[in-house]
This record gives sequence, structure tokens and C-alpha cells, in this order.
Amino acid sequence: MIPYGRQCIDDSDVAAVEAVLRSDFLTQGPAVGRFEEEVSTYCGGAHAVAMNSATSALHVACLALGLGPGDLLWTVPNTFVASANCARYCGADVDFVDIDPATHNMNMEALAAKLDQARRSGRLPKVVVPVHFAGQPCDLGAIEELSKQYGFRVIEDASHAIGAEYRGEKVGSGRYSDVTIFSFHPVKIITTGEGGMALTNDAKLAGRMRLLRTHGITRAADEMVGTYLGEWYYEQIDLGYNYRMTDIQAALGCSQLRRLGGFIQRRRQIVERYGALLADLPIQLPIEAKNGKGGWHLYVICLDRKAPVGRETLYREMRANGIGVNVHYFPVHLQPYYRKLGFSEGNFPVAESYGQRCLSLPIHPGLTDEQQDKIIGTLRRVLSQNG
Ligand SMILES: Cc1ncc(COP(=O)(O)O)c(C=O)c1O
Repeated sequence: MIPYGRQCIDDSDVAAVEAVLRSDFLTQGPAVGRFEEEVSTYCGGAHAVAMNSATSALHVACLALGLGPGDLLWTVPNTFVASANCARYCGADVDFVDIDPATHNMNMEALAAKLDQARRSGRLPKVVVPVHFAGQPCDLGAIEELSKQYGFRVIEDASHAIGAEYRGEKVGSGRYSDVTIFSFHPVKIITTGEGGMALTNDAKLAGRMRLLRTHGITRAADEMVGTYLGEWYYEQIDLGYNYRMTDIQAALGCSQLRRLGGFIQRRRQIVERYGALLADLPIQLPIEAKNGKGGWHLYVICLDRKAPVGRETLYREMRANGIGVNVHYFPVHLQPYYRKLGFSEGNFPVAESYGQRCLSLPIHPGLTDEQQDKIIGTLRRVLSQNG
């Protein structure tokens, strides 16, 4: 099966991990700090806090922003469940903003209209989580303006988007939001096996996220409630978690970061080729964000309503031919857990229609031209054969 996404590991990655395995530190040691430093430098931001997943980073970011019971977080239905679940972990409520039919990111007009209505009904969100879907940056400038107008905080879910750019700056620069989250799951643009990171330009928020990452424990004298008793001493000053990244993961992360430019270049070549060779088919091809440069984590096509086959048939036929297509995403509000909270069909029609017609074609740096030819040929055959 040609996978829709796959890690790209070479000898330099293996050597980096091996060096840690032969060193004194396996879990959080010097490599974690180095990885944090390198990612924040790469993105042009101030602080980075590495964690064991993006899910953990989203959770801790919400807590650091003070999200709790009675509060509200808004995100999009077209995302992985973690973008919404982070609010539920904090006891807060979730609502969604429909997506733009062209970019499949949060629709700015829908956000503005919903905020206006929420102000009138007295139930504004405390946190909004825009998702840079497939690695295409959202309209961060517009979101920042609305955040000032309506007083909400912004967490960018950039799980798909390390290496992407918005208005000439890297996603993660922190210019338009409070916190930016990356995921380093193996299908993502760079990997640490499992792993995530929260970036922020706010030193206090960074400190709070560091504390919550490590059980709520501090070793800093100036943070202690009691008297500092020496180097061996620590205090638990809040209830935190064990969300630490290991040095093994961080070493892989540093090595992958060095290869990020090459990964994105290869992804862009694949995108150009898909674009040129699929243009005549009854499908909507993905577009690059207006103010940005995509990271191209995913390549999602969307079947036209007049396409001769439905998405299910196309999915099955492609898989039967060894092509690991996938669906990103079945709308989060229609998951049984969220239905139980009161959401249903018709709530977010654009995301629902898109969710029935979308299909992710394979894209990853190791995909060969021959494999891509097979994907394109099979897609053409299925879309014409059944016509
Ligand atoms: C948009 C989005 N947010 C959050 C996550 C969670 O990432 P992780 O698997 O690192 O917890 C993912 C992972 O698939 C994702 O795609």
C-alpha cells in the first residue's frame, strides 16, 4: 500500500538517535532544550515548550490561558478531534465555526458573524483554535483583529504546518496569536515518533506550560511557596502532568528539522505534478493560502457533485489498487461523543458537504514519480470507468 503520509528517516536521523541512546540522558535532558531552541529560532518566535504530543500541548496551552469550566472554546469541524477535546479536558464547552469552501480552513465571515451573535447573547468564546488545515495557514491577520475586538485568546493548531509561511513569516512566529502548536506524529511534516510543541512569545505563558508539562513541579527558587532548601529540592506548586518529551525524540526532531526545507521542496514538487496532471478531472484541487505558503502536509481532493462516482467507491477502488487514500476529516461535531453534547447534521453544512466528498491522496517526501503516476492513473481510470 502506498501510504497517504509517511516519515522520512535517513542515516543522519538514525545517528542522532543512536548518539542519545549512548549518552547519559534518555528522557528530558539537553536534547529537549536544544530542540526547543532550534524550533523557536527557525520560526522566529521567543519560547518553545516540547511535549509528548500535540494533544498534550493543546491541553496545557488551554490550561495556561485559564480555560476552565463555564468557558467556551471554538474551533472548526474540519480537524482532528484533539483540537476540540483540549477544551473538554479543562471542563470547558466546545462550539465550531464552519469552514471556507475554497481553503477548508475557518471561514472568516462565519467567525465574524458568530462572534457578533455571541456578543449579543453574552456567550463569547475565551479561546479560538484556528487549524492550519493540510498545512495551509489560516487568515491570521483577520483572526488577530477579531481577537482584539472580542477579547478572545488564540491558539493556532499548526499540527500540519511546521515550515508553512504567513505574510512572509514562518507559522510559529507568534505574531498573531498567543500560542502555536506543532505535532511531530510520523505522518506529519517532521517527526519525533510521537511529540508536540507549544510556541509562544509570552514568557509567563511559556513558564506556565513548562510547569504543567512536568507535574506542576518547580526547581526555581523564585517560584517556590516555601524556603528554597538547595539544589536537590523541588516543590509541586500546581497540579500538572507528565507530558515530557524524551531526549531520544528530541534528537530525532533536531535532525529532522535540518531536513525540513528539503521535505517541503519535495512536497511542493508532488503538488505541482498533481496539479498539472489532474486539472481536467471532476475534482476540486487544493489551493495555496492567499497570504501564505503551505507546508503541504496533506493533498486533499474534493469530488465535484457531478463526478461519476461517489467518495466511498473512489476510496474503495483506490485502496483495492494499493493506494492508501484517507479521509481528512469526517466532521468532529458529528462524532458520537459530540452528538451526545447536542451537535447534529445541518449545524455546519460546508464542513459536512466537504466531509462527504474529500479524499487525501498520498503525499510525503519519499513518494516516487512512479508511485505518483500509479496514483494519477488509477484515479483517472476510476473516475472515467464508472461514468
Ligand atoms: C489538526 C491536528 N491537531 C492535533 C493533532 C494531535 O496531534 P498528536 O497526535 O501529536 O497528539 C493532530 C494529529 O493528527 C492533528 O492533525
